[in-house]
Amino acid sequence: MKIIAHIDELRKCLVEESKPIGFVPTMGFLHEGHISLVRRARQECASVVSSIFVNPTQFGPGEDLSRYPRDLPRDLSMLETAGVDITWTPLAEEMYPEGFNSWVNVEGITKRLEGEVRPSHFQGVTTVVTKLFHIVDPQKAYFGQKDAQQLAVIRKMARDLNFPIEIIPCPTVREKDGLAMSSRNVYLSPEERQAATVIFRALGTARLEFQNGERDANKLRDTLKKILSSEPLAVPQYVSCADTETLKEIEKVQEKALLSMAVHVGKTRLIDNLILEE
Ligand code: PAJ
Repeated sequence: MKIIAHIDELRKCLVEESKPIGFVPTMGFLHEGHISLVRRARQECASVVSSIFVNPTQFGPGEDLSRYPRDLPRDLSMLETAGVDITWTPLAEEMYPEGFNSWVNVEGITKRLEGEVRPSHFQGVTTVVTKLFHIVDPQKAYFGQKDAQQLAVIRKMARDLNFPIEIIPCPTVREKDGLAMSSRNVYLSPEERQAATVIFRALGTARLEFQNGERDANKLRDTLKKILSSEPLAVPQYVSCADTETLKEIEKVQEKALLSMAVHVGKTRLIDNLILEE
């Protein structure tokens, strides 16, 4: 596996890679969720490129940018084992040189859910992903359903701005007890880690109610809140039952809906979701 930091060097190297190129962007501190994306890319593409970049512009003031977990040697060895051809480790000063002043904005869906509580987050994500896409120029790019809104935003951006890239959604990988894998799970103390299992319990209970015929979105949101309230260490920021495309809150579930939430467990903010489908 080649490991490249500089953009000009990466561009030279990419010319020699066979197509299709599959791309897996990450912020590092990798786990089985990230690796599942790489495996999928490996199955479907002639070359696989991954990136590791803790993108400063998607973190708001007071968020965890400075303490975001990092372990580059371990990440590189996991990517190599999973069969990545090139890992790009962009440098912040090359991605955002002095005077950088251009942004990509997706309107509408970025204002809801995560966007309501993290107002500049998606502008940071869409801007960096645009830059990564332009430089890597992949045919396919892999994103996790774990970040359902991010996936919806990237899909919309790719469609609206005519990126010739197929955006491939990949299922959420979970721990045995249901907790969605996340780089941020390392922040949790043992008690908080146990408490965090309430998130998937809440989603699973609401899904069961849906499977038993419940279509009233308010009732499903109430179920999420009720189960979450049984765990004193878990403080919900929002719970949602929304349209899977527009992410607008709905009253009745027709065929499909996105159940999602953000929950503080101690100081750690966790997000998770499930898609309800007939
Ligand atoms: P990061 O949080 O490192 O996640 C990288 C990719 O892995 C994303 O597509 C995310 O949805 C996926 N992922 C994370 N946890 C997962 C899990 N448990 N199961 C399946 N997939 C999972 O998302 C970002 O980085 C950044 O915003 C990025 C897109 C790289 C832009 O900076």
